[in-house]
Amino acid sequence: MARIRTLIDDKTIAEKVRELGKRITEAHRGHEIVLVPVLKGSFLFAADLARAIDLPLSIDFFGCRSYGDGTESSGVVQITYDLTKSIEGKHVIVVEDIVDTGLTMTYLLDNFATRRPATLELCSLLHKPARTKVPVKIDYLGFTIEDVFVIGYGLDYGEKYRNLPYLGVLEQG
Ligand code: IMP
Ligand code: MG
Repeated sequence: MARIRTLIDDKTIAEKVRELGKRITEAHRGHEIVLVPVLKGSFLFAADLARAIDLPLSIDFFGCRSYGDGTESSGVVQITYDLTKSIEGKHVIVVEDIVDTGLTMTYLLDNFATRRPATLELCSLLHKPARTKVPVKIDYLGFTIEDVFVIGYGLDYGEKYRNLPYLGVLEQG
């Protein structure tokens, strides 16, 4: 049976999400914003973050996948669910669970930039700098973590563990 080691507990996550929400609220005072959670991994983070932002906002989802099998990024990004509305002239904040190699976010941000938003920013819960292949500017970052495969709070391993209320690391034995 796999055991799970807690990496970041639910209370620490909640505090950080409140702090990120405050920063976004202050940076965008007077703006209406569009939150774009990237499916599926950021669904819990985005749900909590939205409630920590005190601004008029709308939500539009974007789905993509860059993973073939296992835990390695293939580098080929496939859109599985596109935005339903134009973001031209809007203040857009992409909400991601984790920036790992940076390949997915580079593709997504380049793609979104061609749609001419007024501003385009990235809010990521996690960053694994040890695995960077393409550097990505993260405007609002939750936690920098070591090079481990994390699960929980939306993040999966083989589609499981997304419902854990904390961030953990799978350990064998
Ligand atoms: P990147 O293109 O390598 O930056 O990969 C980004 C995507 O890979 C993330 O949005 C996650 O869906 C997934 N991913 C990367 N590292 C992890 C991890 O440690 N646990 C779960 N999913 C991960
Ligand atoms: Mg993701």
